[in-house]
This record gives sequence, C-alpha cells and structure tokens, in this order.
Amino acid sequence: MYKNLLFLVSLFCACTTHALSLKLTDINNNTQQFDLNINSIGVRTLSVKENTYQGKVPFKAMPLINITKELPITATLKFIASDGFSSLIPAETLFYSKATPYLAIEESGWPKSLRGGKTAGPFYLIWENAEAGQIKQEQWPFQITELVIQQDAKIQYKAIFPDYLSSKAQSGFEVFVKNCFVCHQLNHIGDAAIGPDLNQPMNPTDYFQAEALKKFIRDPRSVRQWQSMLMPTFDQETLSERDILALIQYLTEIKQSVEVEIDR
Ligand code: HEC
Repeated sequence: MYKNLLFLVSLFCACTTHALSLKLTDINNNTQQFDLNINSIGVRTLSVKENTYQGKVPFKAMPLINITKELPITATLKFIASDGFSSLIPAETLFYSKATPYLAIEESGWPKSLRGGKTAGPFYLIWENAEAGQIKQEQWPFQITELVIQQDAKIQYKAIFPDYLSSKAQSGFEVFVKNCFVCHQLNHIGDAAIGPDLNQPMNPTDYFQAEALKKFIRDPRSVRQWQSMLMPTFDQETLSERDILALIQYLTEIKQSVEVEIDR
C-alpha cells in the first residue's frame, strides 16, 4: 500500500517541470534559496492583462507574500533579473495597495518573445487587480532570479537623500527612485549601469536648459535621436508634469552634495 503510494508520488514528480531556484536576501543580509515549480504549494492559475504576453499565457503563480512574508510598510523589495537589471518596488505598493503581486513560475512552453529570444522566466512578477492598485508598467519585472529585501530607499540610500532637501525635492527623490534609479546611478550610488550618473561628473541641470531637460525626461527623442538610444519615453500617467518638476528640483538640490565635497 505504502509502496504504491510512493510509486504514485514519484510518478507525479516525474511529470512536473524541474524546480527553478530563487534567491532571497533579507534585511540582515541572510540568504535563503527557494526551489519552486508549478506544483509547489500555494501555486494557482492566473490570467492577467500584461504587456509581455498580452494575456495569452495562463500563468501558474505563487503569491509573492508566500516567499517574502509580509514586509514592513517602509521596506523596499529589489527584483534582480538574470541580466543584472534590477527594479525596486516599495512594500507599500506590494502589500498595502489594492493590487496583489504574484510570482509567475516558468512552465515549459512560455513563448520566447523577449529580446534575445528569451522568455520572461524563470520568474515574472504579475499582478491581480493591477489597475485598482495603480501598478505602473515598470512594476512588472521579468526574468527574476533574485529578491533582496531592503530598508526604505530613504534610509538605504541616505547619502543621496540628505536632510537639507526641500519637501518638493524629497518627493522628487521618490520619483527618481521609482523611475530612473533602475538605469541611472547618482553620486555613484545604486546598481544601475545603463544610463549615465545623473550628478557626476556633472549634473544635467547644469548643461541642459530648463525647458530642454523637461522635454528630454518626458521624451528623449524629442531632443536628440540616435539608433541605439535606450532611454524610454514617460507618459503623463507614469510621470506627471508635477513629478518632472519635483525630479528637476531634486536634481538641482542634490548638486550641493558634490559641491560641498569639492570645496574642501
Ligand atoms: C531604461 C533605462 C533608463 C531609464 C528608466 C531612464 N533613463 Fe535616462 N538615460 C538612459 C540612457 C541609456 C541614457 C543615455 C542616452 C540613451 O542611450 O538613451 C539616458 C540619458 C539621460 C539623460 C541625459 C544625460 C546626458 O548627458 O545625455 C538624462 C538627463 C536622463 N537620462 C534622465 C533620466 C531621468 C530623470 C529618468 C527618470 C524619470 C530616466 N533618465 C530614466 C536610460 C534610462
């Protein structure tokens, strides 16, 4: 009887796709490895409206909270992709909004529709009720291999969130972290390596005219164009006029952080 049961279990396991591994680093820098597959406990089938597969793929996904557990509202979760690209999403959006994040687990047969003939796997962050939670396009990271739990960006990146910032510049910092930090470093802080540092050696507010800078951030190609240009366009919904002004205020005020050093 037990033998039969064991046989059945092993047969069942043979049918599953092999486990995919996900690394999780907590706030104290301890790491944990999860081996997940589409039959892992907590996984359900989910069809959501998303951009990569246009809703054509029914995902097998696990609630993100099963992996990270509930995070304090001030924490930030960093999603690291297989190509090193990383995105930060505040715990406030993940666990304190109307949307629910799931980690879709790659199943054989996901279309290879991403750049370089790749799929969105091994893990792809998808959302239930994305609209109600006002989840932005850049908050659907794919090809995830690693999660890192961090403090609030204002604490984690204190060096670029100095006390002297005005309240407008403070909200500009938040806009920066959410939309720009994935590609740009500032004062050599951050993991990004796609676009230039936005304060060193020189700050764009020093070499762009104010109007041109606003235009550039909204739509880089309206200022200058070349074939391998990578910076995306930001629509009104992602980045309001007010966000852009706050961002520019932040860039203007953060200049001091370098000038003070140079003066010494
Ligand atoms: C997907 C990556 C990416 C994101 C996101 C991004 N940028 Fe860029 N940015 C670039 C790259 C790459 C360049 C260099 C030009 C190019 O190749 O597009 C650039 C250039 C710039 C420049 C011009 C610098 C110069 O000296 O030419 C500014 C200013 C700038 N970005 C600001 C921003 C701001 C502000 C945000 C956030 C709202 C942002 N970028 C978001 C990738 C990005």
